Amino acid sequence: MAKPTPKRDHVAIVTGAGSGIGRAAAAMLADNGCSVSVWDYDEASAAQTAAEIAATGGNAIGIRVDVREDDAVAAAVAETVDRLGSLTVAFNNAGIGLPVAPLTDIALDDFDNVVATNLRGIFSCMRHQIPRLVENGGGAILNAASVAGQVALAGESAYTATKHGVIGLSKAAAVEYGPAGVRVNAICPGAIRTPMLDILAAGGVSEEALLAMHPIGRLGEPTDVAETATWLLLNAPTFITGAAIGVDGGWTAQ
Ligand code: NAI
Repeated sequence: MAKPTPKRDHVAIVTGAGSGIGRAAAAMLADNGCSVSVWDYDEASAAQTAAEIAATGGNAIGIRVDVREDDAVAAAVAETVDRLGSLTVAFNNAGIGLPVAPLTDIALDDFDNVVATNLRGIFSCMRHQIPRLVENGGGAILNAASVAGQVALAGESAYTATKHGVIGLSKAAAVEYGPAGVRVNAICPGAIRTPMLDILAAGGVSEEALLAMHPIGRLGEPTDVAETATWLLLNAPTFITGAAIGVDGGWTAQ
């Protein structure tokens, strides 16, 4: 049954929203008054997320965007504003890992691809999103880092490097665009049950080993991150900016 239509005060972009955390965040943002521009480089999964939101009374469009392509990012920001009327918040969530391997076994092309997706992709997104937010007098951006942005994940050196970079890039953007009313934060999840965890499982990291990293006694769910993302983008006090916010069941407290 369709839910009552919430008042739509916001237009949100969510990247990598065809799966996992991005899909949960797109749905939760829609439930909390956002029209949502659902981006993914897998066109069918972006369309599916948008259709699921529409089926429950929300407003969403799906766009095929590869965040490694700066021109495509620019065009998708413009399409979002054209079709949904403006841009007020963005969750730059798209990211990938590599098969678990020691640093010396990582091919240069693979390293470059992780950087192009996880770090330069967020740079491209912010490059084209921030001017739209500034035009509106401000807004909020949340970028996907990880516990691997705060501590090293053995066997994931490229991933770890990009996520540390995301925190630095987010801080720099917060400092530069705070005066224009744009808040920028990074989110640092622990292990969240999504297809991304398959990479660790395939690399021999057992569920028990992952559980042992989380003093709270369970792994995270996509909704754990989606709730925090929704709060940070829509409801957090406007004094929170330039922060790296942990959603990690206590992983980094140890
Ligand atoms: P996922 O693999 O379920 O979803 C990632 C989505 O991003 C997929 O739909 C994929 O098609 C899309 N994507 C990948 N490369 C893209 C590109 N170049 N352009 C556009 N879309 C692209 O992964 P999950 O777990 O939902 O991860 C989301 C974010 O959260 C990532 O940045 C990840 O690094 C981060 N994260 C995930 C954790 C976890 O345990 N699942 C822990 C900490 C951070």
